[in-house]
Amino acid sequence: MAVKKEQLYEGKAKKVFATDDPSLYIVSYKDDATAFNGLKKGTIAGKGVINNKMSNHLMKLLETKGVPTHFVEELSDRDTLVKRVSIVPLEVIIRNVSAGSFAKHYGVEEGIIFDEPTIEFSYKNDALGDPLLNAYHAIALKLATREEIEEIKRLAFTVNRELCAFFRETGIRLVDFKLEFGRLDDGTIVLADEISPDTCRLWDLQTNEKLDKDRFRRDLGGVEDAYREVMRRLGL
Ligand code: TMP
Repeated sequence: MAVKKEQLYEGKAKKVFATDDPSLYIVSYKDDATAFNGLKKGTIAGKGVINNKMSNHLMKLLETKGVPTHFVEELSDRDTLVKRVSIVPLEVIIRNVSAGSFAKHYGVEEGIIFDEPTIEFSYKNDALGDPLLNAYHAIALKLATREEIEEIKRLAFTVNRELCAFFRETGIRLVDFKLEFGRLDDGTIVLADEISPDTCRLWDLQTNEKLDKDRFRRDLGGVEDAYREVMRRLGL
């Protein structure tokens, strides 16, 4: 079994550790929650365990659907062995329904179901506040090549198709979500980071009740219960 060695990085919700194999890292999920680029801080009890298990479950599912991911092995409640990647510094956001910054930017209500999903990119850069950019900007900034962006778009829409179908079976609408991708040493683009109620908007199909981090961002209460409810529906 992989051994956790020195800590390489601590992010807002996860830590990353080296292992005895230079091609493998261990990610460790925390209960810390932030919003609005770290301005709002809190704790969601048990979140790290839920996000670890849920993300691993979804990555395993996606692997069977032809989406390569960084996932290797779940080591414990909070720790997962992943392939070492160099993260493409883009946040890739897919939306099926208007919500959040989309509703705000374009002055529309939340809950409008789109005829087709949208995709957008932001530059993963906390100091700049993760500004939105398009593919041309990303190429100009040398964040990714045109070919990598095409591959990322293809994989992101595949993830959307598969996850929408999967969540629908559990009575959940996948409203929108954020993905991050990484490069393996040979240049292969793989899905990285996490897929969890921190990074997805998940609404009850019948009632539109929010079952995700918006409960924390918007002080709606019942945050822990919402995360647990998603796990229950996923049978995890
Ligand atoms: P937005 O509507 O605030 O742009 O968020 C779109 C989706 O991306 C939503 O599911 C939440 C997720 N997201 C993150 O995972 N990390 C972030 O830093 C932000 C701003 C959004």
